[in-house]
Amino acid sequence: MTDSINTVQPLLQLQDVSISPKTSPSRLLVNNVSFTLEAGKTTCVVGESGSGKSLTALSIMGLLSQQLQLTSGKVLFNDKESGVQDIALLSDKALQKIRGAKIAMIFQEPMTSLNPVLTVGYQIGESLTMHLGLKGEVLKAKIATLLEMVGIPSNRAGSYPDELSGGQRQRVMIAMSIACEPRLLIADEPTTALDVTVQAQILKLLDELKTRMNMGMLFITHDFGVVADIADNVVVMFRGEIVEAGSKEQVLSNPQHPYTKALLACVPDAEGKKDLKPIDYAWLSDNKTLSAGT
Ligand SMILES: Nc1ncnc2c1ncn2[C@@H]1O[C@H](COP(=O)(O)OP(=O)(O)O)[C@@H](O)[C@H]1O
Ligand SMILES: [Mg+2]
Repeated sequence: MTDSINTVQPLLQLQDVSISPKTSPSRLLVNNVSFTLEAGKTTCVVGESGSGKSLTALSIMGLLSQQLQLTSGKVLFNDKESGVQDIALLSDKALQKIRGAKIAMIFQEPMTSLNPVLTVGYQIGESLTMHLGLKGEVLKAKIATLLEMVGIPSNRAGSYPDELSGGQRQRVMIAMSIACEPRLLIADEPTTALDVTVQAQILKLLDELKTRMNMGMLFITHDFGVVADIADNVVVMFRGEIVEAGSKEQVLSNPQHPYTKALLACVPDAEGKKDLKPIDYAWLSDNKTLSAGT
């Protein structure tokens, strides 16, 4: 571990991250992915289903499934206490101290991440007890504050997940994720299962919390409408590789890569009508930089 705070280094820097199945190391599901994320900024990772967005996110958390491995690369995390360190090298025990405390993640479907037999208040409190040692009245007060922060009346602390709406459950997940004031929040398609109005409210909430807590946010989506709303920077993934990256303005108004252009052509127009034209992959055969897909 290194010396002190490094203010020059970004909050998160992925360097040449590749991921493959352990049984077939040459089959790269994520291939040489590199990008940086600053504190207080949002980077959106976009790409269609299967492009490697979730695996990239899970590799940052050290949560890749048993069958998969990080074949190469560094996950440099810049933390006040430890300085810049490659968290891909940490033991599971060391990672557990970071997970939930300094890096938190929100998933798409809150019902699968919440325990149905425990109250939401209890579940929000778990990481506060584990990481910060909070108990009793102090813990109760902190849970109430967190619920209010995400727009849920604090008297709902005693409710069970199935007594809440989908939007409220996602708010509970957000309360859990920000409980220990993480420096980095990873959100993997957190609004996909919600209706459009609730989706907009949740995006606004995440954006406000990010600013208020000066977190870095890595936001995974396949929706360019979401990108337009909340991104500072955009990373476009296709078949495990980054095909384009830049500021939101660059990528949305002046896309360079044919895949980005094709994705943007699928965005619904102002009336919300979706252009269902399939993505045109004609460019792919000429593109020597992409590895052979399946
Ligand atoms: N445990 C696994 N074993 C083998 N292949 C996997 C595993 N998990 C994911 N994949 C494959 O890796 C690719 C990227 O997956 P993922 O990161 O989940 O995509 P995205 O989140 O962009 O939809 C997909 O082709 C998926 O089938
Ligand atoms: Mg995914």
